[in-house]
Amino acid sequence: MLRIGVMVSGGGTNLQAILDKITDGNLKNCVVVTVVSNNKNAYALERAKQNDIPSAVISRKAFADTKEYDKALIKHFTEFKCDLIVLAGFLSLIGEGFIKLFKNRIINIHPSLIPSFCGKGYYGIVPHQKALEYGVKVTGATVHFVEPEYDSGPVILQKAVAVEEGDTPESLQKRVMEQAEWEILPEAIRLISNNRLKVDGRIVRIL
Ligand code: GAR
Repeated sequence: MLRIGVMVSGGGTNLQAILDKITDGNLKNCVVVTVVSNNKNAYALERAKQNDIPSAVISRKAFADTKEYDKALIKHFTEFKCDLIVLAGFLSLIGEGFIKLFKNRIINIHPSLIPSFCGKGYYGIVPHQKALEYGVKVTGATVHFVEPEYDSGPVILQKAVAVEEGDTPESLQKRVMEQAEWEILPEAIRLISNNRLKVDGRIVRIL
């Protein structure tokens, strides 16, 4: 059984996508054992409650420095014996200590085709605003392993989504979520739970 800890900041639709795939039997041998939010008002916490999943609010603001914040996260996920940490709409930065300890065991979903529209400040609606401003015809989503720099780790899965005439950042965000994020994030977890991923430097191979 793969024990998953999910980190969230907002609505939690990606968390919901994972829970739905577990419920409908498409994600076997996986269980979400805890949800951690950096924002006490995140609706994702309500989703955790509705599904009887223990949750916690652990916010960087509550700690003197990143090291202390990391320590609290490590303690929490170790107590819950997590095998995999999933950043599912987590809009804050985690520290190097935590990332190093969980090397290749933390994954993130990002709402663009990395390396486009990513890096510091590119989160939530921003990648969609920038994609529209740039005028790209295709965008999408990426699941990648987490490394200390923003959106920098080895790419696991990507899915392209067409930009349509008349799109607003909101309509594009919705389409990218529906057509890409809610599909490739659970799929990456499925591959990990079946031991199908091999990381070779920055290249991820699907076995
Ligand atoms: C999602 O679009 C996710 O890809 C993005 O925030 C949204 C959260 O939605 N994440 C990032 O931008 C991370 N850099 P959700 O809370 O409904 O899952």
